[in-house]
Amino acid sequence: MSKIACVGAGTVGRAWGVVFARAGHEVMLYDALPGEVTERALPLARQTLELMAQSGMLDEPVETVFARLRPAGSIAEAVHGAAYVQESVREDLTVKRQVFAEIAAAAPADAILASSTSALPGSDFLGELLDPGRALVVHPVNPPSLIPLVELCGTRWTRRETIEAARQMMLDAGMRPIVLRKEIEGFILNRLQFTLVAEALHLVGEGYCTAEDIDAVLTDGLALRWASIGPFEVAHLNAPDGLQGFVDRLGPMMKRLGALSRPDYDWTAEQIAEAHAGLAARIPVADIADRQAWRDQRILALRRLKRDVPDPQG
Ligand SMILES: NC(=O)c1ccc[n+]([C@@H]2O[C@H](COP(=O)([O-])OP(=O)(O)OC[C@H]3O[C@@H](n4cnc5c(N)ncnc54)[C@H](O)[C@@H]3O)[C@@H](O)[C@H]2O)c1
Repeated sequence: MSKIACVGAGTVGRAWGVVFARAGHEVMLYDALPGEVTERALPLARQTLELMAQSGMLDEPVETVFARLRPAGSIAEAVHGAAYVQESVREDLTVKRQVFAEIAAAAPADAILASSTSALPGSDFLGELLDPGRALVVHPVNPPSLIPLVELCGTRWTRRETIEAARQMMLDAGMRPIVLRKEIEGFILNRLQFTLVAEALHLVGEGYCTAEDIDAVLTDGLALRWASIGPFEVAHLNAPDGLQGFVDRLGPMMKRLGALSRPDYDWTAEQIAEAHAGLAARIPVADIADRQAWRDQRILALRRLKRDVPDPQG
């Protein structure tokens, strides 16, 4: 198995560490914050592995997988001899440029260099590398240790072989990669997510419903379907004659509601503070780690359900 480097070992970087170690790779973790790897990332990675083991989602003993995760003292040490580097530092163009310059200077010439950026087009910060053809965005959903979808997005320089090798590596690691056909800010997931969130803020901000109502609409409504079938298949199954019949009947409404929605809604700091206060009354900030653990158990339970009731379409 290969050596892999995770540069930035915060929320996303440490979860990537679990993904790669579980796939059998030797993983070096580096973070600029002293103690972040040894005191936070590694204990939390072990916790995730234990949760996976309890859920029957780990094929090897926790200790075997955990032993593949090792701290590095610098970017150069982390990426030395690496076949693949996953950057997960702060979402800041300047920081990403600096970090990729350091990574590229020390990594083997044929290593694939990937960024976890949530929205920044790779062409904005990967073009200055000596060989930008080996770099791309590999955007996960948090936490990638539990959620398999991953978006691969090349830049205008990325070689086709780089994308194919990264895609294969993700498949081998149990992930579910999609490859974007064209570069776009926010990729697919966050464009969908934050358009929905913008309309939710509009509906709450203008007093049509509460934030709790919005959450219920998702968790006990739309998302129950969406965990198995996406919006195109929802429409296909919601009409006896499939998607075409659905659109023939409801297309005008779809267009009208799309045009009426307010993704440009100018939500205010006060509205966010009010939504935060409502959430914090239910989930105090001090209890967020407990709530994350519950969320992770639920995600794993859903993953088990999907494994046990497989999609006959494959
Ligand atoms: N949190 C999410 O939901 C999520 C999901 C998908 C992608 N992402 C993306 O992943 C990246 C990381 O996000 P996160 O949520 O893990 O942030 P985070 O703040 O939890 O972690 C970032 C880590 O990077 C470290 N860091 C900063 N500068 C560094 C440097 N020069 N060298 C090495 N380490 C450095 C910080 O010390 C910190 O531990 C961002 O680009 C973010 O947009 C986040």
